[in-house]
Parts: sequence; C-alpha cells; structure tokens
Amino acid sequence: MIGSPDRETMTEPTSHAGYVFDRQRGDHERLIQSSELLAPFTTEGCVRTGLARGGRAIDIGCGPIGALPVLAELVGPEGRVLGLDASGEALGTARAILDERGFKMVTLVEAELANVPTSDLCPPGPFDLAYVRRFLVHQADPAASLRRIAELLRPGGRIVAHEIPPGTGYPSLTPRVPALQRVDELVHAAVHARGGKYDAAHHFEALCRDAGVRLLGQRGFLPAAQPVLLLETFQAVLGSLRPVIVHHHLATTGEIDDLLHQLEEAKQGKYVSCFANLYIEVIAEA
Ligand SMILES: C[S@@+](CC[C@H](N)C(=O)[O-])C[C@H]1O[C@@H](n2cnc3c(N)ncnc32)[C@H](O)[C@@H]1O
Repeated sequence: MIGSPDRETMTEPTSHAGYVFDRQRGDHERLIQSSELLAPFTTEGCVRTGLARGGRAIDIGCGPIGALPVLAELVGPEGRVLGLDASGEALGTARAILDERGFKMVTLVEAELANVPTSDLCPPGPFDLAYVRRFLVHQADPAASLRRIAELLRPGGRIVAHEIPPGTGYPSLTPRVPALQRVDELVHAAVHARGGKYDAAHHFEALCRDAGVRLLGQRGFLPAAQPVLLLETFQAVLGSLRPVIVHHHLATTGEIDDLLHQLEEAKQGKYVSCFANLYIEVIAEA
C-alpha cells in the first residue's frame, strides 16, 4: 500500500550499486508497465545498431523484465539474450514472465556489473549489443560502468543507453499537475542522494570519451502516456522512494502524503495531452 505508516520507519535501502531493486511489488508492476510503453522505442534503437536474428544481446540492469522480450524477439530462437541484475527478486519476476511468453533461451544472471567475472557472461557473450535503460543514472561512476560494459562486447559491438535527464519539464499533463513536477524533482534528488549520477544523460559525450567508447549518435524520444497510468506510476515511485527521501531530508512525510493525495485527486482530471519522461538515447561503439 502506498504511503502506509510503517514505510516511514523503514531505513534507507542499502545498495552497492546506487539502486538495487526495491522489494515493493509496485516497483515490479510499474517497471513492467513502462517496459511495455517503451518497447517500440527499445526496438527501434536496437534495430538501428543492426541487431538481427541470430545476434547476441545483453540487458544490464534488466530489473523485472526490462528489454528482454524485445531483444529475444529481435534475435529469435537462434540468437542468445542475457539479462544481468543485482536483484535476484527482480530476476525471479523476469523468469516467470519470460517462461510464460516462451522465451526460454534468455539466460538470467544475478550479479553486480562491476564484480561479475567475464567468464560468467561469456559465453553467451561477447555480445553484439548491450542495452541499458535507467541504469547509468544509478551508478556512482557511469563512465566506469560503460567501460565495463564495453569489455563484454565483440569489437565493433554497440551499446544502446536510454536514460532520463532531469529538468526537462516532462512528465507532463495538460492542464498541468504541479504535484507531478515536484515528484519528478524528488525522484532525481533521491537518485542523487543515493550516490547516482542523476544527470548522466546530459553528459554522454564526456562519459563515452572517459569510457573509451565511440559515441555514434544521440537523440531524444518522448512517449505519450495514459494520464491515470502515469499518475499511478508516480504514486508508486514516490511510495517506493519515501524512505530515501525522508532519510535524506528531501521532503517531509507530510509533504509526501500531500503529494500522493494530489496525484490521487488528479486522476479525476480531464487532460488534452499526457507525456511520460523524456529519454535520451545514446548509441556507442566498443
Ligand atoms: C531503475 S531499474 C531499471 C530496470 C530496467 N532497466 C527497466 O528500464 O525497466 C534499475 C535496475 O538496475 C539494477 N542495477 C543497478 N545497478 C546495478 C549494477 N551495478 N549491477 C547490476 N544491476 C544493477 C537494479 O537492481 C534495478 O533492477
């Protein structure tokens, strides 16, 4: 339940990765829903790298499903897909979904990117493509993560990163819902407070240079969304980040409850447009 009093007494989740999957069911659900919303953009980005049937792809920080179905569809049964995540709980959800959809050729590995021995991932690697989404922003050193990712690729292999930059004015409903902007600010502040580079998406040129990978292109994309689903997603995110926000004094429990209430009320509104977060897509070559 979002905003239940016992959540307020929780300590901040510990993490060696800046973000390790929160044990809330709401976290699984929102990530699965957003994976579906983003699937056309994921497909397009991966196809632009040349990923095709028989290819080998890895989704790093795949969470409870991530891009795994998209990658599995693109490489087909003769290809190989690996999902890596530090959270065994998230991978359990991913396995159940993948089995239900018949994607038994996807391998899942529970590990921290920085520590996993290459031999645990190769084979099936070295990979043609490494995909990350909402991952680099949670890393303390995203350039080091990119460097490690490049080591898992074949020469000329590609990295596709889809990350959310702060300060874009999205997500957005028209007419505006000010609480949504405030929650979005708190999300970025919480990522920062946990040691993530919340503005990594604004610095891809430097990150690629520091990681020794060649930046091939950058562009933005903006998914249209359903107002009630968007508002529910941000309620779930705020509920999930409540302990971090309170622990770091980014907002009081009173403000969080008030924001949750405003998002709930906003579900009754009539909107002429609704957009989710703006993403930056980066394609780089190892
Ligand atoms: C915000 S979630 C995004 C999940 C998925 N990429 C998506 O877009 O739906 C980030 C995921 O990355 C995982 N993660 C973060 N840092 C990691 C690391 N250094 N090594 C492995 N997994 C990590 C977390 O456990 C979490 O499941």
